Amino acid sequence: MANVVLKTDKLGIDFGGLSAVSDFSLTVHEKEIAGLIGPNGAGKTTLFNLLTNVYTPTRGSIELAGKPTHGKSTAQLNHMGIARTFQNIRLFKDLTVLENVLVGLDRKIRYSLPTAIAHLPAFFRQEKLARERALELLSIFHMEGMANDKAGSLPYGAQRRLEIVRALATDPCILLLDEPAAGMNPSETAELMENIRKIRDTFGIAILLIEHDMKLVMGICENITVMSFGKVIARGTPEEIRTNPVVIEAYLGKKEGK
Ligand SMILES: Nc1ncnc2c1ncn2[C@@H]1O[C@H](COP(=O)(O)OP(=O)(O)O)[C@@H](O)[C@H]1O
Ligand SMILES: [Mg+2]
Repeated sequence: MANVVLKTDKLGIDFGGLSAVSDFSLTVHEKEIAGLIGPNGAGKTTLFNLLTNVYTPTRGSIELAGKPTHGKSTAQLNHMGIARTFQNIRLFKDLTVLENVLVGLDRKIRYSLPTAIAHLPAFFRQEKLARERALELLSIFHMEGMANDKAGSLPYGAQRRLEIVRALATDPCILLLDEPAAGMNPSETAELMENIRKIRDTFGIAILLIEHDMKLVMGICENITVMSFGKVIARGTPEEIRTNPVVIEAYLGKKEGK
């Protein structure tokens, strides 16, 4: 059995009277592509906010590679190996594509100003290495040619891909993707699906994917967890989920309008 990368135990958070996530237990293994689906408002993004300590859990615990994440900052958790993208794209739109990736790499490639001045060649070496690494990462999505374009000027699909590259630059052991195919056309979605697999294989990392595009989710996830109203209502293989009456009902919206 592969090592456990992420484990949550009875995780929960309340916003006022609303229990946005409750009793959420999940285990993700090394190199696993796990899916998280559910109707709008089910608590999926909130779960990502809990996993990255954007929100402090009201109940329960999280372990990243066997270490409790309680009390860590989002940046510290990133160092510990958890990286994410956002449902609404967050890029430095006025920086270039390359610079956006360098921001992610900066966590890994260290130099201080005194070092830079005293050892200029070393500084330039690191700088050069960082640029080479950034271009290499961009090449996953064939985006090297856009390196000097402003991030904000890219087409929507390319901005989504850039966000993934920037997250990868931080060298995570698990990557959380929040609706990466949102707003993409069918061919971009199909390409993304191949690329998510490629990322897992190339980097040997685990991926936890929130996605509405069922073809994408069913096509690449090995295990799927279904949430509704903050709770896990089903989990299983794509085949098990596809045919689960509880899931079908949640989606057809007897209780849920959206
Ligand atoms: N910061 C917050 N304050 C109050 N309610 C919130 C907050 N964040 C999310 N919620 C509520 O939690 C529920 C789950 O939202 P969300 O996690 O965004 O759902 P999903 O990503 O599954 O569509 C919603 O009812 C939402 O309004
Ligand atoms: Mg969401």
